[in-house]
Amino acid sequence: MTTAPPVSADRLPALLAAMPKAELHIHIEGSLEPELIFRLAQRNGVALPYASVEELRRAYAFTNLQSFLDIYYAGASVLLQAQDFYDMAWAYLQRAAADNVIRAEIFFDPQTHTARGVAMETVIDGLHRACRDARKIGVDAELILCFLRHLSEEEAFDTLEQALPFRDKFIGVGLDSSEVGHPPEKFTRVFAKSAKQGLHLVAHAGEEGPPAYVWAALDVLKVERIDHGVQSTRDPALMKRLAQDRIPLTVCPLSNLKLCVFPRLEQHNLRELLDAGLMATVNSDDPAYFGGYMNENFLQTFAATGLDAQHAHRLARNSFEGSFASAQEKRRYVDRLDEVFATFA
Ligand code: HPA
Ligand code: ZN
Repeated sequence: MTTAPPVSADRLPALLAAMPKAELHIHIEGSLEPELIFRLAQRNGVALPYASVEELRRAYAFTNLQSFLDIYYAGASVLLQAQDFYDMAWAYLQRAAADNVIRAEIFFDPQTHTARGVAMETVIDGLHRACRDARKIGVDAELILCFLRHLSEEEAFDTLEQALPFRDKFIGVGLDSSEVGHPPEKFTRVFAKSAKQGLHLVAHAGEEGPPAYVWAALDVLKVERIDHGVQSTRDPALMKRLAQDRIPLTVCPLSNLKLCVFPRLEQHNLRELLDAGLMATVNSDDPAYFGGYMNENFLQTFAATGLDAQHAHRLARNSFEGSFASAQEKRRYVDRLDEVFATFA
């Protein structure tokens, strides 16, 4: 099926929830709910600068990316043991399964943990066990190691070196944290080395940063996907390039709203990206902080922008085709998508 059958508007929310989908942009540390932060703080004897879950939640009023990152890194300070990383990932994977996410490619930020004395093996072991167990609840889950771009390339090299003994437990590398002032070029050599290891390459670009950062991620880092990329609409030549090369964009609408990239969800440019023929997808980014997991992102964005069932089918199909699954897995995922759409016809 290349186009979806028509679906009446009143059944659109049920369809968005029921359709199988892949999540390609989720930071596992951003899935840490305040309740779990407090539970792990108690379990590990870590002091938090917030008196209660409610007080912590009240601090989630962000004005830009950096104002979020400061709180996000503080929240991750409760993670010490492999079991903590397992519990965090398992909570996310159960939540994803409930939203009919059947594939998840999950970012993790090892430097946030190794800087506190947590061993790389502890981080990867806990996360990987959860990903393996996810198959039992119908989710194919893989890990992508992200370098923190506010740190140096030398530190990224150290991180890659520490992770290579566990090379079989992650499928790619990415680039996240503070974007403006830390262009992709800063990480040229460590991305080249990662490519030599056969790792997939992605990078955050064009979340707050300019189109030039998206160009550099593509042409210098040679990434296969762009995370966010919403600033690309400012550059017509870049839009043409992204469409022609079918570069997946992992768009995160509620994240963009909460970090004030767009003042209102109604003004989000997801429709513009799709209309220009770009391979856009919908993702949750840091769902515990931005007010919604996958289905909430779909539901709120469709309600605000008037996208329809055809868009839903395209976004879900893009999520599978833009994933790092095998060709055979992708076919199986898209078949399942078409089956669910057929039941809504
Ligand atoms: N952008 C950059 N770094 C991040 C993000 C994001 O949206 N979420 C977690 N780390
Ligand atoms: Zn992100």
